[in-house]
Amino acid sequence: MSANIAEMEKRRDAAKLGGGQKRIDAQHAKGKLTARERLDVLLDEGSFEEMDLYVEHDCVDFGMQDQKIPGDGVVTGSGTINGRLVYVFSQDFTVFGGSLSARHAQKICKVMDAAMKVGAPVIGLNDSGGARIQEGVASLGGYADVFQRNVLASGVVPQLSLIMGPCAGGAVYSPAMTDFIFMVKDSSYMFVTGPDVVKTVTNEVVTQEQLGGAIVHSSKTSVSDMALENDIEALLAARDFFDFLPSSNRDDVPERPTADAWDRLEHSLDTIVPPSANQPYDMHEVIRKTVDEGEFFELQPLHAGNILIGFGRIEGRTVGIVANQPMVMAGVLDIDSSRKAARFVRFCDAFGIPIITFVDVPGFLPGTDQEHNGIIKHGAKLLFAYGEATVPKITVITRKAYGGAYDVMSSKHLRGDLNYAWPTAEIAVMGAKGAVEIIFRGLDADGIAAKTKEYEDRFANPFVAASRGYIDEVIYPHSTRRRIALGLRKLRNKSLENPWKKHDNIPL
Ligand code: HXC
Repeated sequence: MSANIAEMEKRRDAAKLGGGQKRIDAQHAKGKLTARERLDVLLDEGSFEEMDLYVEHDCVDFGMQDQKIPGDGVVTGSGTINGRLVYVFSQDFTVFGGSLSARHAQKICKVMDAAMKVGAPVIGLNDSGGARIQEGVASLGGYADVFQRNVLASGVVPQLSLIMGPCAGGAVYSPAMTDFIFMVKDSSYMFVTGPDVVKTVTNEVVTQEQLGGAIVHSSKTSVSDMALENDIEALLAARDFFDFLPSSNRDDVPERPTADAWDRLEHSLDTIVPPSANQPYDMHEVIRKTVDEGEFFELQPLHAGNILIGFGRIEGRTVGIVANQPMVMAGVLDIDSSRKAARFVRFCDAFGIPIITFVDVPGFLPGTDQEHNGIIKHGAKLLFAYGEATVPKITVITRKAYGGAYDVMSSKHLRGDLNYAWPTAEIAVMGAKGAVEIIFRGLDADGIAAKTKEYEDRFANPFVAASRGYIDEVIYPHSTRRRIALGLRKLRNKSLENPWKKHDNIPL
């Protein structure tokens, strides 16, 4: 018996060395952790239970029959994060460059299937040279098996991808179909075709970082939700982030104790909106002063800063927050901000996370650039996302809610459950001056000024909308947190269903 145990231990130890000490040292020299070290940081200490440690590839081409490494380049299993179950896979770059063989893919599929069965999130740590070149089409088939599972798991269990090394070719499409992507600066990149192919086809000379590094994807493309400094920071951020997520679409949002009183009043909010409609203020402050302990986990902070998205908690329970940001382009809605918020709203709706929307929006951004790039279709995404969402929706209009953007931003008409306005709210078709210049074309400057004043008096307030029931109540800004907490309590058992359909046809 003891000989058997010794044999098991020998095999385990050998398997855990992956591609060997030399390659582990090379990984460390690049400032990267190994696949197993990453799991140690991500998961609660001692919670990792590995599966398929002894799986090997079955390739016999190009001498591969003589190169077998147990585990085949990916460490898979389950563990806990702050006590909650999660399924994980972590690609091991020290084994054939973390490249994906049919068996490697089979291991990933196994954890995804297990996660789906029990309703637990999947976190993938990606560090891979892509398809195992020696395996050819078997590897491509393996990728497609993973892709199919990404699709089926979407909206059932949360899926998070951490990109911690190369991720190229068609391999990018697995993370791309997960809910969130975190990238590590300077050591990770994602592109469909790398710099060499780009040079051959387009003659452009570009580095990996410029083509698909963490900053490019977190600021320009929005493929990535976060750019973190290094492996440790990314893994710790993933732990914090995980705490906001429900385990599946069958589970309630997580709840944790908080010392922050639900009815805390924030008197500084009474004066945060400046007297002039053209002066900005920081919507982050409104959010932080509303959520528990000021903790706002912002996503995509570097992309489309005119809208803010992220998670917070009220009374210890997760809420999704969407907010126009007057500090950036006056909080206008454009293509990027509409897409950014729409996908977030849909995630929240899929997983039963209530949505709090703070509104200060002057409308949609005008111009040929926006029109020719499809603001109609992209703006419709956000409208559609809010309109289909059946989770609790609470809206607070802090200042401007102009035009179509008023309708879009979780208005009463899109089944907003509780629509509040601060006394500083202005709900109108457009800003007063613009409106007057259209309806009183030809008036002299004095006439315009007089009519502008008249329009402002009439519409630059929340009471016209409130008199129609479009606003449920005009509230003191200082009572915002209290109102939201009370609202969420009331809405806890909200039940609302959309008509039966196979699926909708959101404008993609
Ligand atoms: C098999 C691979 C591999 C791969 C790397 N290795 N990529 N083995 N298949 N795809 C092996 C190397 O042979 C090497 O083995 C070890 O991993 C480390 O690789 P290095 O090149 O030494 O590392 P580095 O200099 O850091 O460069 C990493 C890299 C480079 C940029 C990822 O290895 C590379 O360009 N690899 C090929 C990438 C690629 O073209 N993949 C196919 C993409 S197409 P030893 O034994 O020396 O340690 C694709 C299609 C997916 O993925 C389609 C899905 C639909």
